Amino acid sequence: MALRQQKSLDLSTYTIPRHVAIIMDGNGRWARKRGLPRVAGHRAGAENLRRIINACVEFGVDILTIYAFSTENWGRPEAEIRGLMRIFARVLDQELDDLHQQGVCLHHLGDLTGIAPNLQEKVRRALQLTKDNKKLILNVAFNYGGRAEILHAVRQMLADNISPDDLTEALFSYYLFTRDLPDPDIVIRTSGELRISNFLIWQAAYSEYYPTPALWPDFGREELFEAIVAFNQRERRFGLVPEESQ
Ligand code: IPE
Ligand code: IPE
Ligand code: MG
Repeated sequence: MALRQQKSLDLSTYTIPRHVAIIMDGNGRWARKRGLPRVAGHRAGAENLRRIINACVEFGVDILTIYAFSTENWGRPEAEIRGLMRIFARVLDQELDDLHQQGVCLHHLGDLTGIAPNLQEKVRRALQLTKDNKKLILNVAFNYGGRAEILHAVRQMLADNISPDDLTEALFSYYLFTRDLPDPDIVIRTSGELRISNFLIWQAAYSEYYPTPALWPDFGREELFEAIVAFNQRERRFGLVPEESQ
């Protein structure tokens, strides 16, 4: 709480997680609390993204991965899915130039072919435009599922005739949508849920998990700061005994 009263958020003495992943959850509950339709929560959630991208650039995070739409989310009511697709298209239309100016390099995680052709086209254009940007890599997991990603990787490896003897963890990682990016250091989940919901199930094997009760539209710069402070209090042991992992 005392943290909230600080005017400037000084992270100079902290280790900044290089790769932050966020399960952006709680838009529906945010809307319900206000008597609004769920899609209004998704709109507020999309607006919040701008704050978090800015904060990541400010704090010096290199890679931000956000879970925007899961393979399981197709089971939601049609109207909600339509609303989400519309919001996604609008964010790309309205924010792309700013993101590009800011030096954000967009990556997509998931199956692009499963979404509407006009949206696919917007995504492809955005990836192409921003591909050489260096300030922040923004991975957008959209039509993404961790299990689907693993199956996709296995299919690709079979198609490439990878021999069982050559298969290593590093090679397997290379076939995932995250390719040669480092694994997330921290996985933040908003809205108080304590599960991974099929997100980065391979890559997050040793990530620090940070659940927070804040609903996604309410999770701002200060909440991200608090998450980084908490990350600094963790002892990452990677299976070793404390002295070895220092
Ligand atoms: C997260 O918010 C956004 C998506 C999954 C697309 P939810 O829509 O899951 O919000 P809650 O969990 O119902 O509050
Ligand atoms: C996870 O949230 C997916 C995204 C944030 C895109 P969900 O709300 O879909 O997950 P569950 O249903 O609580 O596991
Ligand atoms: Mg949810």
